[in-house]
Formats: sequence, structure tokens, C-alpha cells
Amino acid sequence: MNDMRTPSADTVSHALVDDATYRTMYQASVSDPDAFWGEHGKRIDWIKPYTKVKNTSFDYHNVSIKWFEDGTLNVAANCIDRHLPERAHQTAIIWESDDPGVSQHISYQELHEQVCRFANVLHAMGVKKGDRVVLYLPMIPQAAYAMLACARIGAVHSIVFAGFSPDALGSRVADCGAKLVITADEAPRGGRQTALKANADKALAKLPEVKLLVVRRTGGDVAWNPERDVWLHEEMERVSAHCEPVEVGAEDPLFILYTSGSTGKPKGVLHTTGGYLVYASMTHQYVFDYHDGDIYWCTADVGWVTGHSYIVYGPLANGATTLMFEGVPTWPDASRCWQVCEKHKVNIFYTAPTAIRALMGQGDQFVEGIDLSSLRVLGSVGEPINPEAWEWYDRVVGKGRCPIVDTWWQTETGGILIAPLPGATPTKPGSATRPFFGVQPAVLDPHSGEEITGTVAEGVLAITDSWPGQMRTVYGDHDRFVSTYFEQYKGSYFTGDGCRRDEDGYYWITGRVDDVINVSGHRMGTAEVESALVAHPKVSESAVVGFPHRIKGQGIYAYVTLMHGEEPSEELRKELVAWVRSEIGPIASPDLIQWAPGLPKTRSGKIMRRILRKIAENDYAALGDTSTLADPGVVDDLIENRMNR
Ligand code: PRX
Repeated sequence: MNDMRTPSADTVSHALVDDATYRTMYQASVSDPDAFWGEHGKRIDWIKPYTKVKNTSFDYHNVSIKWFEDGTLNVAANCIDRHLPERAHQTAIIWESDDPGVSQHISYQELHEQVCRFANVLHAMGVKKGDRVVLYLPMIPQAAYAMLACARIGAVHSIVFAGFSPDALGSRVADCGAKLVITADEAPRGGRQTALKANADKALAKLPEVKLLVVRRTGGDVAWNPERDVWLHEEMERVSAHCEPVEVGAEDPLFILYTSGSTGKPKGVLHTTGGYLVYASMTHQYVFDYHDGDIYWCTADVGWVTGHSYIVYGPLANGATTLMFEGVPTWPDASRCWQVCEKHKVNIFYTAPTAIRALMGQGDQFVEGIDLSSLRVLGSVGEPINPEAWEWYDRVVGKGRCPIVDTWWQTETGGILIAPLPGATPTKPGSATRPFFGVQPAVLDPHSGEEITGTVAEGVLAITDSWPGQMRTVYGDHDRFVSTYFEQYKGSYFTGDGCRRDEDGYYWITGRVDDVINVSGHRMGTAEVESALVAHPKVSESAVVGFPHRIKGQGIYAYVTLMHGEEPSEELRKELVAWVRSEIGPIASPDLIQWAPGLPKTRSGKIMRRILRKIAENDYAALGDTSTLADPGVVDDLIENRMNR
């Protein structure tokens, strides 16, 4: 397919780099990474400058990733203090509340004071360098203050998305050994409130040594444990507005973020300080063609990596004005995002395909009549964008003048790895196009593991050498880091994604090739949903697969075998959905549950997921070889009673 869109003359004349510069810089970045990153590492401020740049090994027996290892710095000083001489009165954060009538501008000066006070509150509560702090917060400025306050004192934050259940929160707090959890009384979203404090109370019931710091967001009623709970606003008054940033090593941890994999419990992805900040800020500048003075809005939640790198750290390191949105794109109606763009004159807008599809489905009338002339660059992230949604985004939102940057990356990668650069890269609807500086993708044959070296290739996506934003380990489990990412295809980082490279060398991500599903751009391990289901007393066995979903990209399809003597019913179906929501959170709710008297298993007892995926996709005509099944008869029953017709 060669549906190439060349950037407009306006885009090219405005752009930081053109195609030739991209090619030269890319070549330099891969032929001499030490020289390239040695130079670009200087884009941030170091307390003690590094003398070593890259020290990394993807060798399976000795995986080790270090960047700028002898340098020291402070992330909060980079994101705030160093901008004060020039930008004290510039807006750092525009906060747009769930309520369309309420927004707030926070200047770099105000951000400095809030973060210093917050850091002193953490100190006063006994948090020290290296301690872990869990954040379970709505999209409010205090979430950014808390992140930066941790960074200022060298504490390690781990944000748990506010849509996760008390159980999911509790297990993450326990896994990282957090001393303190920061939450809010309630989280307003789409006109409804989630009882965050009550959830945190449940999560901490079995963790008596953990303290709880509470932001007053709505003023709603909350239970209070005076031994453990502290109001943030009371403490902020008591402490000084002065706090020196702590000197932190480049390879000291900055944050842990839990993410789902194909097996077991979510793993704590650990990112460190120096390389991460260099990479987040550089990708933010180049991929969004960020210029001084731009108003930049990423609609993600800080509970996901996109919020870390492209709401907080990347933009603030660049001295940008970053917009933080508490609400949802469809409330009060489907014009909300465009109203916000008009109100704040947003120049760069970054969202997920699931949101684009949902808004597209509501009709163009929600976009028409709103002044979107400030928009210059549009971004997409989280899942493959289907060409229909791409075209709508381009035509209806961007009026055909805004380049679309389809950015492929992962929690593990810390920042964007494959994406067009506005003005430099002609785009193709549905392709993430070309690698960022320093990124060396390889398409591997999934069976032999050999790299397919021809330009046109199809297989699985691996990255053959390190980049500064890469995760360093799985918190507390380095063996799991090595076995998850470096064992299957030796010598490379395995992404878990399938991919195609076309005749122009452009990459097309085709989706996960492991047991991870991508629901509305959120990553979910099928094993997690299965273990939630089998924890229900009436469920004996379960197998979960993804299926194509019009809005969400993928939906969750659960096959459930009940305990002997239990009868399937509509009530039980609802009960199981509610059960999974309370075990993990609403994002894990099964869309379809099929009662399965038996599951297709090999004689050795392994569930043949390939067959279950086909039936869930309503594509059962080509099931392939079923002769190795212990009981081929179960397949007929599953086809007969399939839920997705
Ligand atoms: O399958 C890819 C998909 O999202 C996965 C990473 O999910 P997560 O760690 O939650 O991070 C999401 C935000 C960076 C990837 O393995 N993915 C992400 N972006 C794209 C994508 N798939 C296709 N195109 C993208 N632009």
C-alpha cells in the first residue's frame, strides 16, 4: 500500500527538522550512540556531568542497562527550577476540571512553591531518598505535584490508576513496599464520583504500617483514621516553601509503574532518572515538533506511562505549558475535547484511537462550529489506529492541515520509539512509520528467531540495542525482566508486538502476539482476568481471550466453566462481571461471557487458545488442526453457543 501523505509547506517550514536532517541525525545516532547521546544528554541540567554515556548489554546471560551512569541530577530541578529565570510567570500546567466551568492556570513559580511544600510534607512524614510512595489520585494538579515532590527528594513514586480496585491497589502497595499512599477523598469523572479514600481504606486494611496522605478534592464525607490519615492541605500550611532538590544518581530509580504481561501478576516496570528524562524530553520536543510557547495537551491519565512521560516529565523538562484534564471526552457531550482545545487554544493534541473512534461514532456535528484553528499537530497512542479513524482525525479534527503522529511505544520503553516527525516524515494512515533517533528495530521470524533483513518483512518486533529511556529491571525481580524480554529472542529486546515493514521501510504494528490484550488502549493480561474469575466460588475454570471491538479496539471474551452442580444464568453472568470489576477494576470487565462445559485442551492439559480466539472472533470456519485435542467434541459446543455473532 502506498497511500503516502506529504507534510504541507506550512508544516515543513515550521518544523524543527526536515527529512534530510532526520536521516542524518538517525544515522549518527545508530553509528555512534556514545557521541550522539553524549551530546543530546546535555539538553538537561546535571549537577555532576557524566563522563560515561552508554553502558548496556542485551546478552541474555548478563542483561544490564546503564546510561550516563556517573552523572548526577534532580528531575524536579530540571522540570521547574531551571526554568524560573525565564519562565516564572509562564503557565506550567493548565488544569481543566471535570466540571466544564472550572479550570486553573499554574505558573512555574506556583508549581515551584507547591512542589517544595509537598516535598517538605513528605519529609515530615518520614519519606526519604529511595523510599517508595504510591499515588492513587484523580487527574488533579496535586498528582503532578506529588510526582515532582517525590523526584525532588529522591523518593520513588508508583502511580496506580484511580480506576483500579482496592485489591489491585493493595497488591501494588505491598509489592513495592511503599511507606505512604497518597489519595484524594473522591475522584470526579464524567459527573460521577469514585470513592478513592474508601478504596484506599480497603486496600490498606491489611497493611497497617502504611500511612495515608489525603487530598481534599470534593469535600465529600470520608471515614478517618486519626492514627494513620493526614490531610494534605493542613500539612502544606505548616511546612516551609523552601526545599533544596536532592542530588540523585542517573541510574537511581525515578518511578515504578505496574503493567500487565502474558503471565502472572502485573510487574513493576522500573525507570531510572537521567536517561529517562533525556529521552522523554527529547521525544516530546521532536515528535510533537514542540516549540516554545506551544500549548500542549495529552489526554492520557497519569496512571499510565503516557501521563508520566508526556503530561509531566517530558513537557515540563522542556518548559512547556501542559494541559491536565480531569474529565472524559464524552461528557457532558462528545464536543468536550474540542471545547477544551478552543478554550485554551491548544496547539498540540495527543490522544488514543479508542477516544477518536468513540467521538467519530457520535458524529461530526460535535466538532463543527468549534474553532480548532490553533491545532497544529495531532498525536495517537496506545493501539493500532485503524485507517478510518485516522482519516476522520485528519479531516474533521485537523481539517487536513495537521500532521498526525502515530506513536508506537510501551510502558517498558519509557518514551516513543517509532513515530513520524512532523515536517520530516510523510505519513501513511495506520503506520507508526520510522524509528526515533537511536532506536534500532528488527523484524524477526517468530519461529526461527532470525532477523528478516529485506526491507519488506513481517514477523515480530524486537529492538536490537538500548536507548536511554528503556526500563532497567522489574522491581525486585531482575530474572523476570531477563526472561520476559531477552530470553525468547536472544540478543534483542522483545516487544511482544507483531509487525510488518513495507517497501518504504515503514513499520506497521499489528498488535500483541502474546496473551496481552489491549482494551481501549489499556493493557490487560488475560491471566489476570482468568485468575479473578476462578477466585469466584462458583467458577471452576476460565480462559480469556481478546476479540475485535468497534470502539475499544479489543474486547474481553471469557469462557467460563462452572463448578459441578452450578447452573448458568443471566444473574450469574452479571455477578461475574461485577466480581471482576471489584477484583481488578472496570477496565477488566468481560464484554462477553460464554458458558463452557469444557475447554479445548491438548492431551497434556494445555488450553488451545488459538481455537478460543477464533471462536471469539466468530471466525470458526478455519480452526485448523483440532485432532490433537483430548476431546474434540467440546469445540462443537463452543461454536454452537458462541457469543459474538
Ligand atoms: O501493543 C502495543 C500497543 O500498546 C502496547 C503497550 O501498552 P502500554 O505499555 O500500556 O503503553 C501504552 C502507551 C505507550 C504495545 O506493546 N501500542 C501502543 N502504541 C501503539 C500500539 N500499537 C500500535 N500502534 C501504536 N501507536
